[in-house]
Amino acid sequence: MPESIYSERIKNLPPYLFAEIDYIKRKKIEEGKEIIDLGIGDPDLPTDNLIVSAMIEEVKNSKNHSYPSYEGDFSFRKAFVDWYFRRFRFEFSPSDCIALIGSKEGIAHSFLAFVNPGDIVIIPSPGYPVYGIWTSFAGGVPYEVFLDEEKDFLLDIESVPSDILSRARMVWVCYPNNPTTACASAEYYDKLSFFVKKYGFVLAIDLAYSEIYTDETKKPVSFFEVVRRRDISAIEFHSFSKTFSMAGWRLGVAVGNPDVISALLKVKTNTDSGVFRAIQLAGRTALENYERITPKIRDVYKSRRQKLESALSEAGFNFYRTNATFYIWVKCNGDSKDFAKELLDKYGIIVTPGIGFGKGGEGYFRISLTIPDDKIEKVCDIIKSIDINSLSYGKEP
Ligand SMILES: Cc1ncc(COP(=O)(O)O)c(C=O)c1O
Repeated sequence: MPESIYSERIKNLPPYLFAEIDYIKRKKIEEGKEIIDLGIGDPDLPTDNLIVSAMIEEVKNSKNHSYPSYEGDFSFRKAFVDWYFRRFRFEFSPSDCIALIGSKEGIAHSFLAFVNPGDIVIIPSPGYPVYGIWTSFAGGVPYEVFLDEEKDFLLDIESVPSDILSRARMVWVCYPNNPTTACASAEYYDKLSFFVKKYGFVLAIDLAYSEIYTDETKKPVSFFEVVRRRDISAIEFHSFSKTFSMAGWRLGVAVGNPDVISALLKVKTNTDSGVFRAIQLAGRTALENYERITPKIRDVYKSRRQKLESALSEAGFNFYRTNATFYIWVKCNGDSKDFAKELLDKYGIIVTPGIGFGKGGEGYFRISLTIPDDKIEKVCDIIKSIDINSLSYGKEP
């Protein structure tokens, strides 16, 4: 089929970065070698039985078989805002939130709600690739702000020139951050809210990892928890994928300023027809049992983090110390793609090169803690055996 059938937006997509890594992986597997994949951020833990049982019951109920409502079932949205209050001590009404077919769906559609062709969208680099790609799909122009380890990977809004800020339609932040694992403080959100009010852009906050933290005394904060008002043009995206190990179920929530939420809903009513009601009702069970279900999930990642971090330290790697996400953001001081290829070739380990998240990710790689515990032990032994001085990455030929 000739490429001319493709739209410009498809043709302009960046080339697939990981083709060479995939090629080495396939070759190794053909040779019968074992590969440990630390690249994928897909929770390996099964969904809790309470949620699965609720789903089984709701699937049997024929009332759930028709089209769901666009905004989401009232009882699901009520359970969400009740949970939000328990977790963040800020009260939303069920009409301030909508159900999403996974947060990625809502994130993508929000660009159609707020971005006109030629508009600027401020995005982090490194960052979740969907922000940049959907800016372009909507005809907008991404303005990348590099995240700097010395500034704790916080998107430095003060570094953006005021003529850019006044032309920006959206600003995206994600904390706890994928891929850097950094968290935002209340002071940081306070400062951002000042810029939202001054420049009038829509602030989008991606909270996909808000519930994956290691220290109970330092829980990640939310934007609305800090600003304590809804009359500010901001929207938060929440996900069930990581919080409840429900990635395959496709369930998320957008919550925030009612006008911002209703603009996103307008796009969605003309695109999809909501989330299968049985999934929303199982999601309601998840939210109602959050305090029972999620500590176990956090404990697993915490113990894996301790093991892998100590193996990395033993081998001499430098990585960012964090309290959240199920990733480790490790320095490789050179071409991250070459480093990942060498690690796979010599040690059979797959990691994600930082460049895959944008130019600001170069010089780092991301390790994911979503592999089963028996493999964690194995990969720790391999990491400890790495002689980093023998790796050729980042060195002059
Ligand atoms: C930063 C970030 N946001 C959003 C998502 C999307 O999550 P989901 O669509 O499964 O809710 C992901 C998934 O990996 C992510 O890493």
